[in-house]
Order: sequence, then structure tokens, then C-alpha cells
Amino acid sequence: MPCNGKATETCGGSNRLTVSQLPDGGGTNPPTAGKGKRGLCYNNNNPSKNAVYANMFKGYSKISWAYDWGYPSWDLDTFFEFVPMLWGKPSGAAPDWTAAVQTAGTKSILGFNEPDLTYGGSSNMLPADAAAGYASYMEPFRGQVQVGTPNVLWNNDVGSSSGGAYNSRVWTRYFLGNCTACHFDYAAIHYYQDCEPAGRAQDTGPDWFKGNVTHAWDTLRLPLWITEFQCYGSEDQQVRFLQKVMPWLDAQAYVARYAYFGTFPDLLINHDGTALSALGQAYATT
Ligand SMILES: *[C@@H]1O[C@H](CO)[C@@H](O)[C@H](O)[C@H]1NC(C)=O
Ligand SMILES: *[C@@H]1O[C@H](CO)[C@@H](O)[C@H](O)[C@H]1NC(C)=O
Repeated sequence: MPCNGKATETCGGSNRLTVSQLPDGGGTNPPTAGKGKRGLCYNNNNPSKNAVYANMFKGYSKISWAYDWGYPSWDLDTFFEFVPMLWGKPSGAAPDWTAAVQTAGTKSILGFNEPDLTYGGSSNMLPADAAAGYASYMEPFRGQVQVGTPNVLWNNDVGSSSGGAYNSRVWTRYFLGNCTACHFDYAAIHYYQDCEPAGRAQDTGPDWFKGNVTHAWDTLRLPLWITEFQCYGSEDQQVRFLQKVMPWLDAQAYVARYAYFGTFPDLLINHDGTALSALGQAYATT
């Protein structure tokens, strides 16, 4: 369904874009210095209580943006574009959220974090509730900033989704079905899986990941932001995985942005929290 008569806008997820209709021919595709698709997910849970780990990536031209599952940015360096996230549904008026969205320099906003899941770190919402939350807290900003769909775990098959025994793709379908007047500029997904699943060919992990990203595009037809992804395995296995998937992500016109999980010690940062890890180096420079 065309939204406000514009072919490149989507209401309720039913206006499926083709690659040639992607805004700006895919926006960041192919990525150029300072406009890279790569971003950072970080928080201020560290001795400095700020964006110290994310800021260690300053100067790496393939990294251009960052988010911290909320706002403010905790002194994120201006080298990066900060993207505020509304993690869950506020219980009432949220003037602080409005102020974060209206802060000069904000170009895009992220919505609910894993509302499709029921574990402690997810925002766990019924699709209809999430849609009502979008109407109140995200829709008012359409046209002012780029608005993303809720961040869902695309490859979740376990039936533990919020509200019933359906997977996260079905959760997304129900959400879109309840949010028919909503406008989305991009879709946000997560992916977690083994780097090299046991007993399978080494390329299976990267292939599953690419398969899920392709499937998300085929289903949603919006530019994709992969706001969290990680493969489980040793540091060497994770580096191999990134070396296989990042050139592919950079080459897909419908992949606008991605952020490996996460900007923390023993992941993209070394154990002591003093510099990039080997994995972080691979992420920043591959
Ligand atoms: C709206 O969401 C509810 C669950 O919250 C779901 O049962 C219903 O099918 C959805 N409606 C549409 C039209 O998708
Ligand atoms: C998505 O990933 C899962 C592993 O989590 C895999 O079993 C499935 O085949 C993948 N889907 C596609 C379309 O590749």
C-alpha cells in the first residue's frame, strides 16, 4: 500500500520495494569511507561509565554509526552518528524520548528491542501492544527522521515469542497487521547462531546468516538494518565468519546497516578493556 502517495514509503509493510526503488539506490551501497554500513552496539556499563569502548573505533572509516539500546549517547564521539532507541513502551508521556529524537544530528531512530521474545533482556510485547506503542511514540516523528520497525530475532524458531507459540517472523506479520497506518523507512532484525554448526560444512554458519538476511528482505522489502548479530564460537571462528559475511553484506543494496554484537570486552574489545580485540580489528578493517 503506497504511503502518502510515495512509492518509496511503506505503510503497514505491504508496499514492497524493489532494489531499484531503494532510497538513494540503497543509501550506503556500496559503502564509502565515512558512510560505512558498519555500526556499534555499546553501553556505558564499564569503569568509565561512558562510550569509552565504542570510541576506540574512532578513525576507522568503515564504521559510521552507533547505538546503545537507549539514549543519551554517553559521550559517544561525534565521529559516529548516534541513533537513539526506544527500548520498550513508556508508561506515559515521554518528553525525554522526544528530546532525544529532536536533538540536532539525529537522522534515524530505532524502536522496541526484541519485543518478540520473553527473556529478561527483551521488551516482550504482544504485537498489538507494540503497534499501539509505535502509533504513540514513533509515528509522530515520521518524515522528520528515518523510522525503523521493531528489532526482532529473525531466525528465532523456538516458539517462545511474546504472546504465543509462534516464531518471530509471525510476530512481525502480526505487528505489521496491527500497524497498518504506520510508516517505516527500514526494517531492523537480529540474528544469533553458531559460527560453524557442529557436524556441518564450515560455510553453513555464513550461509544460514545470508539466507536469513535474504529472507527478511524478500518478506519485508524494506532496507535492512541488522542491529544485532553474532555467531557463537571461538574468536578465530568469529573472525572467519565476519570475513565471509561482511563483503557480502557490503555488496547487497538492500542491506543499509549492520552492527556486530557487541562492543564489549572479550568480543570486539580485548579482555582488559584497553583496545580493540583481534575480532574488533577484523570488524573494523576487513
Ligand atoms: C494483531 O495482533 C494480534 C496479537 O497481538 C494478532 O492476534 C492479530 O492477528 C493481529 N492482527 C493482524 C491483522 O495481523
Ligand atoms: C535461518 O537460520 C537458521 C539457523 O538459526 C537456519 O536453520 C535456517 O535455515 C536459516 N534460514 C534460511 C532461509 O537460510
